[in-house]
Amino acid sequence: MYDLRSDTITLPTKAMREAMAYAEVGDDVYHEDESINKLEQMAASMVGKEESIFVPSGSMGNLIPLYINGGRGNEVLCDSNSHIIQHEVGSVASIAGTLAIGIPTEKGILDAQTIESHIKRGSYDLATSTLIEVENTIGGITYPLQTLKEIRELADSYDMSVHMDGARFWNAVVATKEDPKEIAAQADTMTFCISKGLGAPVGALLCGTSQFIEKARSVRKMLGAGMRQAGILAAGGIYALTHNIERLEDDHRRAMKIAQTLKKTTWAQFDIEDVHTNIIFFSVKHTNASKIEQVFEQHDIRCFAMGDCVRFVTNLNLDDDDIDQICTIIESIDEKEFTS
Ligand SMILES: Cc1ncc(COP(=O)(O)O)c(C=O)c1O
Repeated sequence: MYDLRSDTITLPTKAMREAMAYAEVGDDVYHEDESINKLEQMAASMVGKEESIFVPSGSMGNLIPLYINGGRGNEVLCDSNSHIIQHEVGSVASIAGTLAIGIPTEKGILDAQTIESHIKRGSYDLATSTLIEVENTIGGITYPLQTLKEIRELADSYDMSVHMDGARFWNAVVATKEDPKEIAAQADTMTFCISKGLGAPVGALLCGTSQFIEKARSVRKMLGAGMRQAGILAAGGIYALTHNIERLEDDHRRAMKIAQTLKKTTWAQFDIEDVHTNIIFFSVKHTNASKIEQVFEQHDIRCFAMGDCVRFVTNLNLDDDDIDQICTIIESIDEKEFTS
C-alpha cells in the first residue's frame, strides 16, 4: 500500500530514533530539559524570533496565540477553509473564546484589501478584530511574500496581531527559496510543525517575542501540556531541523511528477499551477470523494477525501521508486472505474 494520505504518517528513521534514545533530559516545567531548551533556541533563531516554546501539536501551537491575542469579545480574521476553523474541533471558540470570521477565498490566500473590509472597530455592539491568521502553506500553496508584507502593514495600521499557522512552513521556505526570517517577520507569532514533512514523531514550535512566549508557557500549562522529560521528543525535532529540511525538495519534485501524470489522464481535474509543494488536491468528474478514495484503495494507493476532492501528499516514507510505481498505477486507471 502506498500511503499518500498525509505527511503526518512519516515514521522516525533509525538515526532519528538513536538521537532520541540518547537525548539529555530534565524537567521542562522547570526549564531543565537541555534538549528542549536547545530545540527552542534553535527554532527561534532559525525563524528570527526572540524565543519559542515546544508544544505537543500544531493545533496547540495555534490555540495558544488565539487565546492570548484573540480572546473573549474579540475576533480572528482568517480564510474560511483554514485549519483553525475546519480541523481543530472548534477550539478557537470553545477554548480560546474567540469569534473566528472565515473569509472566503479562491485558494486560501487572503489579501490585505479583503481583510480590511472585514475589520470591525469602535462600536459597542461589535466584536473587535484583534488578530489575523494566515496559513502557510495552505493546501500546499505558498503565500506570496509581498501579500504577507501587505497584511503585516495592514495589521500594524490597525494595531492587530498576525499569527502564521506554518504547519508546513519549511515546505514554503524550500519551495519559494525565500529567507525564513523574512517570511516569519510578517507575523507576530508563528507555529511550525516538526511532525509532518520533517519526520519527527511529535510536536510543534510556537515562536514569538520573549514577552509572548512567557505568557504562552502559562497557557500551555493551563491546557495541561507542561511536559516533563520530553527532551526525548525534542531530540527528534533537533534531528529533523538539522537533516530533513533540504530534503523537502524531493517531496516537492515527487509531487510534481505525480501531478504531471494525473494531468495526462482523462479523469483527474485540478490546476497544476496550484502544486507548489508536496500536496495535490484533485477531483474526478461526476464522482464523490469517497468513491475516488475507494478506487485508489483498490489499486493499493491510500489518499484522503476532503469535501469533493481527494488529497495526495508526498512524504519521507516514499522514495523515487515508490513514486514511479504510483505513476504507473495512475496511468493504468480507467475513467470507467470511477462510475462502475
Ligand atoms: C495547516 C495545519 N495546521 C495545523 C495542523 C495541526 O497539527 P496537529 O495535527 O499536530 O495538531 C495541521 C495538521 O495536519 C495542518 O495541516
